[in-house]
Amino acid sequence: MLVMAHRGASSEAPENTLIAFSKAVEIGADYIEFDIRLTKDNEIIIMHDENTKRTTGYDGLIKDMTLSELKKLNCGNEAIDAEIPTLEEIINLKRGNTKLQIEMCSLGLIEPLYSLLKKYDLMDLVLVSSFRLEELLKLQRLNPDLKLASLHTAQPGVFEELNPNLKLETLKITKSGWVLDSKYRKAIVDFAIRNKFYAIHPYFFFADEEMINYTHENNILISIWTVNRKMSFKKYIKMGVDGIFTDNPRLLIKLLKEI
Ligand code: G3P
Repeated sequence: MLVMAHRGASSEAPENTLIAFSKAVEIGADYIEFDIRLTKDNEIIIMHDENTKRTTGYDGLIKDMTLSELKKLNCGNEAIDAEIPTLEEIINLKRGNTKLQIEMCSLGLIEPLYSLLKKYDLMDLVLVSSFRLEELLKLQRLNPDLKLASLHTAQPGVFEELNPNLKLETLKITKSGWVLDSKYRKAIVDFAIRNKFYAIHPYFFFADEEMINYTHENNILISIWTVNRKMSFKKYIKMGVDGIFTDNPRLLIKLLKEI
């Protein structure tokens, strides 16, 4: 079971900061997961949202700000000050056996990301994911051996990219807008098979046993996001997922030692 520290050990430290990543390494997570975005001056920084408001209090778009402007912001909390990290800073973090799960959140990242992966010889130590499937395919063209994972919600999204014949009107949708349909789940796995992806990363609630089994029959891993409660850890471990993204890697590791 892969323990994926979601935005670092983000239940113990501000999300996507070097403190959260160091804690996740110390706890023994298999992967630290984080979100990358491109600055105005083409540097890769770590932040989930496109706007800096939620995590720093300053209302600005990352794509319109330079690295030095972003570095002046504080994405810590009342207890800890923290700078927005760059990808290069995470690469240089003392990581032990912990690998990197990089989520590409904005456009324009392919070239700068690939050049850093090459510079630091990281091809075997990273797993790159995105909701933007076309971006993953672009990266794959640069190196077909890179480990890639497609991200999926259970909300109407990228059906055409998955399969042009998959039409929203033919799928089962719940009152709250969730697309809980086996055709959609199958299309996700089929896309991963066709494109030789390493893994799929669906929203936890969306994964079912049929999807998990079909993924495994095709030698693809399935890791779910984001699960934080012990009961839910147990449920999905029993269902057979390969990895769990969690804000609380300490709790998941403790549970894994107990069972
Ligand atoms: O990579 C798993 C999870 O992080 C995807 O959702 O919203 O946190 O980017 P989000």
